[in-house]
Amino acid sequence: MIDLSDLCGLPILFDPETYELRSAKPGWDLPDAGIRTLDEMRPVLMDPDCDGPEIVYWMYRDICLPEHSHLRREYGLRYDISVFRGDMFGPEYFKTAGHYHPYIHWKYPISWPEVYEVLYGEAIYVLQYVDDIYKDPYYVEVKDFIIVHAKPGRQVVMPPNYGHVTINPNPGRPLVMANWVCDWFKSYYQSVEQARGYCYYRVQDETGAPKWVPNPVYKQPLPAIREAQAVDVEALGLVEGRPMYRWCADNPGLFEWVCRPQGHLDKIWEQLQIRQ
Ligand SMILES: [Fe+2]
Repeated sequence: MIDLSDLCGLPILFDPETYELRSAKPGWDLPDAGIRTLDEMRPVLMDPDCDGPEIVYWMYRDICLPEHSHLRREYGLRYDISVFRGDMFGPEYFKTAGHYHPYIHWKYPISWPEVYEVLYGEAIYVLQYVDDIYKDPYYVEVKDFIIVHAKPGRQVVMPPNYGHVTINPNPGRPLVMANWVCDWFKSYYQSVEQARGYCYYRVQDETGAPKWVPNPVYKQPLPAIREAQAVDVEALGLVEGRPMYRWCADNPGLFEWVCRPQGHLDKIWEQLQIRQ
């Protein structure tokens, strides 16, 4: 068992052999996990007929200590943890299904952001911006495609209007990550399924080296891949290695941008330093 308490800010243990997440505090339990199965993932895979384990990832939604239950009730802030296997979908690296967040209000054409924090393993966050999240892939235009590598302790913001996918770049190693997200909306998956995933797939070539390959379902040419580095932004409450669960529980007003990003867009984009 690996003790994630220092990195996570909650008393949680993780078993990388069984993927089990468990409370380290007597009398306090994690919520039941939701699962994402391989069959549910097939519509967004490069090879929808690939073999693989039945369960791809586990989602523990709305985790909080009893004294922090007001964070969701009063501020709309929900904390989740997801556990991913270290495996492959045929040639493609393990990933989440991918989704877009809806607009906050028709008067404000921006969607809710989200912030992730890696707790174990490594992640590649993929951000995709399209002209209209409801268009089918024949018409949709991909405007931007950004990737962000992250290691344990690093938070990464998913900015408004960018759909997102998480990739586990290590087939032999699980990934555990947390997020703060606003509890007031449901994510939108349909157009990602119609397009068979995002516009680039992360795959292994014949030598086992990773590479990006274009998804031919999208209108070509695709935008070039931009790489960003996530950095500390104290004004958003995000500092590498400082658990965002605890910091938000102690300073919920500082995380207002998660549910009301309108006045915080500059700070949100400051968190992602574009490298190329
Ligand atoms: Fe999301």
